[in-house]
Amino acid sequence: MEYTPHYNLTSFMKDLKTIVNYSKSKGFIFPSSEIYGGFSAIYDFGPLGTELKNNVKHLWWKEMVWENKNVVGLDSSIFMHPKIWEASGHVSGFSDPLVECQSCNTRIRVDHALEDQGVEADDKMTQEEITQLFEKHKAQITCPECKASSFTSPRQFNLLVKSNLGNFTEDMNKSPVYLRGETCQGIYVNFLNVLNSMRVKVPFGIAQIGKAFRNEVTARQFVFRTREFEQMEFQYFTHPKDDIEEYEKLKKERWNFWIKMGLSEKNLQWKRHPKLAFYAKDAYDIEYNYPIGWKELEGVHARGNYDLSQHDKFSEAKITYTDPVTKETFTPHVAEASSGVERAVFAILCEAYTHEELDNGESRIVMKFNKQLAPIKVAVLPLLSSNSDLVKKANEIFDTLRSKFMCQFDVTGSIGKRYRRQDEIGTPLCITIDFDTLKDNTVTIRDRDSMKQQRISVDKLESLLREELS
Ligand code: GAP
Repeated sequence: MEYTPHYNLTSFMKDLKTIVNYSKSKGFIFPSSEIYGGFSAIYDFGPLGTELKNNVKHLWWKEMVWENKNVVGLDSSIFMHPKIWEASGHVSGFSDPLVECQSCNTRIRVDHALEDQGVEADDKMTQEEITQLFEKHKAQITCPECKASSFTSPRQFNLLVKSNLGNFTEDMNKSPVYLRGETCQGIYVNFLNVLNSMRVKVPFGIAQIGKAFRNEVTARQFVFRTREFEQMEFQYFTHPKDDIEEYEKLKKERWNFWIKMGLSEKNLQWKRHPKLAFYAKDAYDIEYNYPIGWKELEGVHARGNYDLSQHDKFSEAKITYTDPVTKETFTPHVAEASSGVERAVFAILCEAYTHEELDNGESRIVMKFNKQLAPIKVAVLPLLSSNSDLVKKANEIFDTLRSKFMCQFDVTGSIGKRYRRQDEIGTPLCITIDFDTLKDNTVTIRDRDSMKQQRISVDKLESLLREELS
């Protein structure tokens, strides 16, 4: 019953296909609308993926809101006044350059096509610059669908997703209501509401987690780039003279957060935006080494007072702050941290996926999640499914634990197979109820990573689990 705790780590390919198939087969992530042939760049989270995602969001919220005296949370709406997206610059400037294949009409993002040829093209390039770069390299570019190499000239494609909300006339282009393209605009437009209701003083932060929508052109990178996704966004409002200092502090905190989530330092790197948006003072991405390459997991930006000033101008709401002590009036500057929940889950799945050769000649796949992130925390396993006393006792223990920890009850197959099943979904602890349990009220607890087992009294179970899982 006991496995030797010694093992060798083999190098095992964490390629995209492996992660995608594993995510589906274990109930983490499913392609959307699959029985209808799928729906491009949209995914559903399965039972375990939902737990994992909720844990990521909870730990982010705890770090950003609960553990900071001067940070509050917000839950603003997906639909907002259309003028907000004009003020923010999204209506005129939130676009990707694309070309169309002249043979099969497939749309291709120019920067991605160039990237595939090893040519760096960043999203801040002007239309003219991107066209020049495309013209220079287009001879090597072929259509991913039909392999033809004749394309239209690059043009900008706006990423905002339009809705027909409240539009009772035929002409919905008149003033379209968009599904929000980023959650932080909901924070900016509620700046005064928060200020006036929460007795906060600059510097203070507002955090929000919510859905965002983008008409992404490229749809081939699993949950890295989807058309519906969730953002975890944090806006820290500072005095103009303090913005860079606070931004540098935020950069350090965000880096440390991902390490705490279990991402290893060797798989993380900083990348400075090669070209800054005209209003930004500085901007860095935290990149993760995904199976599709080093890509942005989170952006940390010094946004200056651009957004508040724009909303002040477009809404005429007078969005300023007056210091209660110095009486100085100013428009606060913003340090922003913005990450995608799906990109976080993707990175965490890649990092956790481990293939181990054990000393006894067997091998196992184990998801080495940080324990706080693990979808199932504890598995309760009666040694034999055929013995009603063992199953009854195991059920009693399961009932006392399941309102406190996310538990799973499993009676099917040998105990070894059940341990493997729990390893495969990253359950940190398994509790086995055997014949000694019936005599002395003790159980075996088995640790996922070391595979070590210890015997413990049922009375001490809850406190031990709390300690082990914190
Ligand atoms: N408010 C700033 C902002 O939205 P962004 O770099 O466009 O900045 C921030 O997006 C984060 O949102 C990214 O770092 C990424 O994690 C996530 N994200 C952006 N587009 C995404 C998409 N199409 N699919 C999944 N996540 C996305």
